[in-house]
Amino acid sequence: MNREDFPMLKQDIIYFDNGATSLKPQVVIDKMRDYYENYSANAHRGDYDISYKVDMEYENARDEVSSFINSKSKEEIIFTSGATESLNMIATGFFANIVESGDEILITTSEHASNVLPWFRLAQDYGCVINYIPLDDNLHVTIDNVLKSITPRTKIIALAQITNVVGDVRPIKEITKIAHENNIFVVVDGAQSVPHMSVDVQDLDIDFLAFSAHKMLGPTGTGVLYGKKELLENLEPINLGGGMNESFDTPSEIYLKELPTRLEAGTPNIAGVIGLGEAIRYLKNIGLDKIRDREIHLRNYLIEKLIKLPHIDIINLEADSGIVAFNIDGIFSQDVAYFLNKYNICVRAGNHCAKILKNATGVTNSLRVSLYFYNTESEIDELIELLKNKDKIMEEMI
Ligand code: ALA
Repeated sequence: MNREDFPMLKQDIIYFDNGATSLKPQVVIDKMRDYYENYSANAHRGDYDISYKVDMEYENARDEVSSFINSKSKEEIIFTSGATESLNMIATGFFANIVESGDEILITTSEHASNVLPWFRLAQDYGCVINYIPLDDNLHVTIDNVLKSITPRTKIIALAQITNVVGDVRPIKEITKIAHENNIFVVVDGAQSVPHMSVDVQDLDIDFLAFSAHKMLGPTGTGVLYGKKELLENLEPINLGGGMNESFDTPSEIYLKELPTRLEAGTPNIAGVIGLGEAIRYLKNIGLDKIRDREIHLRNYLIEKLIKLPHIDIINLEADSGIVAFNIDGIFSQDVAYFLNKYNICVRAGNHCAKILKNATGVTNSLRVSLYFYNTESEIDELIELLKNKDKIMEEMI
């Protein structure tokens, strides 16, 4: 689907590492190039024509993001360097000011490092307790297990909507309902979900959402922090500097701007934000439902073939996203990745930054194929042809 829009696909490669980062369509590259070539001024600082154009393009991108995730207002959209920075800002800028010793933070063992380490630090610094919602036999989060994990001290539930190795889609709407009935905040890591499915923050009643541009056809170094306005009002800026202050004179007289600017200190990644806006326009043109259907189709196609190979052990058979993790009996996943690379197939191998997942699965490393709408059945056929022959892999892998 739409393969001709992606310059990288003109190369002789099969790109199955979309969970790590997606490819970029020409329109996104052109949009960023246009900024650098034709109106490369700063944002929110100039009083001349090209600077007005920058402001307009930058704020148009904010409108695009706001409508893409259906936030109540554009003030709820903060541009960051990526999901990682967004999650760190939420933990350090918001929760550090309100948690008390003994408060509990609920996560799972299948979270990405970005949704574990900020909470570990918060727990260390403020005496909070990290608890884990148990995963079921399919490594999924069930409502039953969420209910069992909540105690009167639970303050935060922080979960990926889709995890980056297991690829399961979490029932966020049901979880926020239960959480809010118990006065618990819900933080959602949307890095693997926002690029692949329609996400409506108001319908899901999410308190905070973090995601990255580069996994959704946009540039690296750009991301989004969404928060309900009344919560963002209480998020302490981690960075102080230009752009975000109204005035200052002495240390006790610092006056900050309103949202969202208050949380975007310094010159932002202007080209990145404009590129993200264009990526969203592109995704919206195709339609997120169509994208999701295509990925589920490709996933089923891949699983149907993988399952027939007796030497392959699929880790997340029951997931419902484009992420498929597996191992070949007796072969280290990284060796298989090197082997596939000889045939220009890009997959990721290792622990995929989900380093405590092994506590639930007993599996330390795996191969991960992560699909996007531009992948094809014939690419999957080529992968399967190579994976079929274990002896050939053993011979050629070094
Ligand atoms: N978070 C990215 C991945 O899962 C880098 O590969």
